[in-house]
Amino acid sequence: MTQDEMKKEAGWAALKYVKKDSIVGVGTGSTVNHFIDALGSIKDDIKGAVSSSVASTEKLKALGIRIYDCNDIEKLDVYIDGADEINPEKDMIKGGGAALTREKIVAAISEQFICIVDNTKTVEVLGQFPLPVEVIPMAREQVSREIKRLGGDPVYREGVMTDNGNIIIDVHGLHITDPKSLEVTLNNIPGVVTNGLFAHRGADVIIIGTPDGAQVIC
Ligand code: 5RP
Repeated sequence: MTQDEMKKEAGWAALKYVKKDSIVGVGTGSTVNHFIDALGSIKDDIKGAVSSSVASTEKLKALGIRIYDCNDIEKLDVYIDGADEINPEKDMIKGGGAALTREKIVAAISEQFICIVDNTKTVEVLGQFPLPVEVIPMAREQVSREIKRLGGDPVYREGVMTDNGNIIIDVHGLHITDPKSLEVTLNNIPGVVTNGLFAHRGADVIIIGTPDGAQVIC
């Protein structure tokens, strides 16, 4: 089975967490794209979605799914999104698709975070995948210097602008044994909008696509 087929297993398995007549929080990425296809198959049973990126919004709209503004919603039952890495505590690195800030906002108003991944994304310790940090453009060099002081190796993601008009710095060389603490430390650097550690608001359920089908970890 290919990696994409495993992503599809996870994406379609997430449908069972979607409640009738609800507004669904929708993340971003290739795994989520499978979930959006699945959501399209029950579009008449839901009210619509709050989306975490322009790309997901376009895909949802193309399937006829109504988009709600995050500002009009106080609480969502579920948020369904992928991850670049997830550890046994259900802390995640996200932002490979540069949508981390909006993803964090939608996750923050959601009762349950369902993380959908293929089986290459599970790790014991986070950090092998470079940690994305969304940064205000004028702070690029200053934030990079601070990251070096913290022991990371910052690499500017050339040619990428986030949906919020900012840049991404990917931090290589980390071995993240205390994700909660690093999440706060990085967010305290002036110029950082947010970083891709989702530890303070981690996942509640992981659905892992495997060659034997979808495996659910609660
Ligand atoms: C986007 C994300 C994605 O969830 C993450 O990059 C995983 O993507 P994919 O499902 O394509 O592997 O955080 O910002």
